[in-house]
Amino acid sequence: MGTAMTTLSLRHLQRILREQGPAGSISISAEIGASGVGEMRVPFIMRVFYLMKPEDIHALLVQHNDEAGKVELIARIARTTFGNGILFSNGAMWKRQRKLMQPVFHHAHVKAYGERMVNIAKQHIAQWKPNNVLDLANEMHAITLRIVVDTLFSGDATGEIDEIREAIHDIGAGFSAQAQSVFLALMPDWFPAPALRQKNRGAKKFNRILERLIAERRKLGEANSPQDLLTSLMFTKDSDTGETMSNEQLRGELLTLYVAGHETTANLLAWSLHFISKYPEVAQKLLVEVDLLEGKPPTTEDLARLPYSKMILQETLRMRPPVWFMQRQSAVPLTINGRSYPKNAMFFILVYANHHNPAVFTEPNIFRPERWANDAEKNLPKGAYTPFSTGARICIGNGFAMMEAQLLLTLIMQRFQITLLDEAQIPKGTPITLSFAKPVRMQISPINA
Ligand code: HEM
Repeated sequence: MGTAMTTLSLRHLQRILREQGPAGSISISAEIGASGVGEMRVPFIMRVFYLMKPEDIHALLVQHNDEAGKVELIARIARTTFGNGILFSNGAMWKRQRKLMQPVFHHAHVKAYGERMVNIAKQHIAQWKPNNVLDLANEMHAITLRIVVDTLFSGDATGEIDEIREAIHDIGAGFSAQAQSVFLALMPDWFPAPALRQKNRGAKKFNRILERLIAERRKLGEANSPQDLLTSLMFTKDSDTGETMSNEQLRGELLTLYVAGHETTANLLAWSLHFISKYPEVAQKLLVEVDLLEGKPPTTEDLARLPYSKMILQETLRMRPPVWFMQRQSAVPLTINGRSYPKNAMFFILVYANHHNPAVFTEPNIFRPERWANDAEKNLPKGAYTPFSTGARICIGNGFAMMEAQLLLTLIMQRFQITLLDEAQIPKGTPITLSFAKPVRMQISPINA
């Protein structure tokens, strides 16, 4: 069934990604053509498939979720720092953690963080002075970082924010060195390579801070502990077994939420501001909407009457999905839309290419928030739009991220006029999340100042 599969060589693929970065997924998609599935052969190791058609993506992530989990090698590298954290685990372990954590991310629960998010952002942007020239990505990172630390640990860790950032940097550096070298990936963590030492050093530092916070909360008990994700996660009981998470599991999940929860949202905001400054008619419409707030900071209650800001975010997530590719590995042979795949096949889901599919999105390279009007997302073909993935493993922080981004975007636009002094460019290579290639400077002037 279907058209023959196109085979691409590793060298060719590497060249495309080296030269074009995530945007190269469109070139890969074009070369693969009508079949929508490309194969890359890595002799004697594994078979790698590239998926970019909505129906294949949907089938893999929704129907075959139990049979195609996270990639084992990556899970192994992650295990020493993230424990069996939800982001990388599979099977029964993942199911248990997801069930425990899901209630913590329910809409009503997440809504309670809205006011804190706005207050933190207000404090941060209060430091912006007329005609300041600032680094757009850095500013967005600084705000979303403070928000994630506050929602995870309340004020308890604010004194340690630099230490946490350093620890995460070390973990991240070691992790990406392993992701880029098969040799390092296969080494145990005690192997005396500088990258692994750096990763261990970071993990130790992070664990030390967390152990202290966890011990303090255990002493205080649930009723007296601050209301934040740490307290929620610590005291949540499995509805069947009544068990709570162990300290080790908690540490892994807190690190996971920290990592998964701020860089992605910062990228979304930074790219949104890039598009807003590039498309004046979009900026104009947004300003009219923001005026509805009458100068008051946005609240979660306001969000429903600020639909255009949400459409801008949806369109940014389409054109610059922070998670621009996803990976899976088959635990058994699979048949997807009539094609057979062997056991242990590796799948690359090209989210970026999927979101630029002209059969689904007319003029896919044009930034047009209006395409999301009238709940258009609900009428798209299944699997066509997956910035937060789909199926059982859909981003657990989806609602949290959208709420945060909408609050921050409207707050910033209400208070500042932003002029970008550089063109934002997509990074080359294979960044884990879709950031900027080079710093983008923004000049800010307060509105009504
Ligand atoms: C714009 C912001 C965000 C984007 C685009 C995003 C995107 C994604 C995507 C695509 C996945 C699935 C990855 C895969 O299955 O391979 C994912 C998973 C996840 N995300 Fe997000 N995310 C965002 C924000 C957040 C936030 C704010 C949090 C937490 C506070 C969070 C926590 C998680 C977790 C824990 C998972 C793993 C879920 C599981 O495997 O069951 N994310 N995210």
